[in-house]
Order: sequence, then C-alpha cells, then structure tokens
Amino acid sequence: MNVLVVGGAGYIGSHTVYELRRSGHKVAVMDNLSTGERGFVPKDVNFYLGDIRKKEDILNVLKSEKFDVVMHFAAKLIVPESMKEPLSYYHNNVEGVRLLLESMVECGVKNIVFSSTAAVYGESETGICLETDPKNPINPYGESKLACEKLIHWTSVAHDLNYVIFRYFNVAGADKSLEIGLKKRTLTHLIPVAIEAALGIRPSLTIYGNDYPTKDGTNIRDYIHVTDLAKAHVLGADYLGHGGKSEVFNLGSSKGYSNLDVAKAVDKVLHLNYSFGPIREGDPAILTADATKAKKILNWQTELTLEDIIKSDLAYRKHIHGS
Ligand SMILES: NC(=O)c1ccc[n+]([C@@H]2O[C@H](COP(=O)([O-])OP(=O)(O)OC[C@H]3O[C@@H](n4cnc5c(N)ncnc54)[C@H](O)[C@@H]3O)[C@@H](O)[C@H]2O)c1
Repeated sequence: MNVLVVGGAGYIGSHTVYELRRSGHKVAVMDNLSTGERGFVPKDVNFYLGDIRKKEDILNVLKSEKFDVVMHFAAKLIVPESMKEPLSYYHNNVEGVRLLLESMVECGVKNIVFSSTAAVYGESETGICLETDPKNPINPYGESKLACEKLIHWTSVAHDLNYVIFRYFNVAGADKSLEIGLKKRTLTHLIPVAIEAALGIRPSLTIYGNDYPTKDGTNIRDYIHVTDLAKAHVLGADYLGHGGKSEVFNLGSSKGYSNLDVAKAVDKVLHLNYSFGPIREGDPAILTADATKAKKILNWQTELTLEDIIKSDLAYRKHIHGS
C-alpha cells in the first residue's frame, strides 16, 4: 500500500514510518516541522513540507500521489500548553483534521488511521479504560482529540471513508536503530524525565503524590513501547486495506506500573535520585488500558516490556547526548 504519514517527522509518526517500511509498504510524509525533525524522515521517503491548516498544502500532496491510507499524527499535544492556548489547539488539531478529511473526500482517499489519546476518557471511574467508557476530557487537548474522533465518525457516515482510531496511553522508548526517538524540547513524560535525571541531565526526579490508594501510594499508568505502537498502526492500515470496518481501539499493555515501579526500574539500570512532591490536580490514581479489542480484531498486543522501554530510551538519550 502507499501510505501518507501526516506528522511523520515527529516521535510516533517517524517510528510508524520505519515499521511501515519494514513491512514492505511505500510511505510518504507530510509535516510542517513545528515539532518534528527533518532528519527523522529517511532520505528516500517523499517528504512534503506543508501544514494541514492550509488546504492547498494538503491538496498538493494528495494530487501528487495516489494514497491508499492516510495516517494522522500532526497534533499539538502538551496538556498545560493547551490550557493556556485552547484556540491554537482547536485550530491545529480540529481544523487541521477537518481540512484533511475534506481534501481526502475530494481526492477519493478512503482510509484514515488517527492517533487519539487516553485523555479523551478524563478521570476514569474504574482506572481500566474500555473503548465504550464515558468520554469526559478535562483539558482542551483531550477535548480537541475527542472532537476529531467525532468529526471522523460523522464524515465516514456521510462519505466513502473508513477509519481506525487508536487511543494511546503512555508512549516511550526508541527504535532499535537509535536513529529516531523522543527528542522533544520539553520532556514531560515520566520515563525520559527519570532517565535524564539518572544521567545527570536534570537534578533529580520528583514523583507527584505518595498517598494515592494504590499498592505503594504512587499513581499507576500503562506504558507502551513506541515500536509496539507503530506496529499497531501497520496492522490498522492492513485492516482497512482489507476492507475492515471503522473501529476505535485502545492501545496499551493492559498492565499498570506505579511511578515508584518506574523509578525503581530506572534505578536498576542507572542510579536515580528521586523525591516525592504534592499530588497534581486532575492526576487520577490509576489509568490503564483494556486493550482486549485490539488483540481480538487486529491480533495486536505489546511485545516489549517496561525494561525494554527504559533500556531503549536510555540508549537513545546516550546516543543524542553523546555519553
Ligand atoms: N506522545 C504521546 O505520549 C502520545 C500519547 C497519546 C497520543 N498521542 C498522539 O500521537 C500523535 C503524535 O504524537 P508525538 O508524540 O509523535 O508528537 P510530535 O510532536 O513528536 O509529532 C507531531 C508531528 O506533527 C507535526 N505537525 C504538528 N502540527 C502540524 C500541522 N498543522 N501540519 C503539519 N504537521 C504538523 C509536527 O511537526 C510533528 O512532526 C499526536 O496526535 C498525539 O495527540 C501521543
């Protein structure tokens, strides 16, 4: 298949480009490089510099090649930033998707794989999210993603378009080539932050809250290796290519690790100083995925462990910091 990866110069998009190519698919990338890296796109992949907030940019790409599937990763995704800049989040995330869908319909591209997020669930009552659970996002980022999900759904009802929507949990790790990885200006995720603390790039790790009603008092999250996630996207594209009907899937390990589990796992590989800080508002005690549906329909499940995630992120961070 020929797959257009929109946002393919970013963290998850670039890993998906690598996995699509390893599975024998042809790939092109469209990206505005707002957070992406040109160097993350292999030299022999067609790269279109463009912005999905501009319809002429999208049409330029869709008219240059015939695509079987479009994958969308091109979002703004920093929760605190979204609280300060809701208008730019809706513009980039929702208007960008609206223009992409409109252009796909006009150009006869029939399949979309969309990156959504666990943030659409908001504060889950059970801590183990099922796709059918209530969706109550608690920030503009999650709201913008939920709006995209609904827009994609209604477009598929009205037009000849099928979709796979993936809701991810906490993504970390790096490709085995070490050519790509999580290289964000502001790292907010626990695993890379813990590793940078262990490497001495930041002073120490603060774990927010140690009296949650969990086994060790710290909150519990679901971690997934970016390569496992990228492989799910390949399966999602294959599923749509074989005429699969539109579906929404959680992607996670279905296994929770506490913040302390993560800190101890990093400490096993490198010495890590950590301390406890106050609970952060809107940070639920437990948030994990029930990924049974992805296993049943796509035959997907995680293959890599928390240790694999930590080791690959560490190897990548050492690689980019030259230590
Ligand atoms: N990283 C996570 O932990 C996580 C968790 C859940 C969901 N997601 C979702 O996964 C997707 C990818 O996240 P990521 O971590 O790879 O982010 P990223 O910032 O590394 O990648 C996003 C890419 O999209 C590009 N982009 C952004 N706006 C664009 C626009 N208007 N036009 C063209 N290109 C644009 C950026 O330059 C970048 O290359 C996002 O949709 C995000 O909501 C990520």
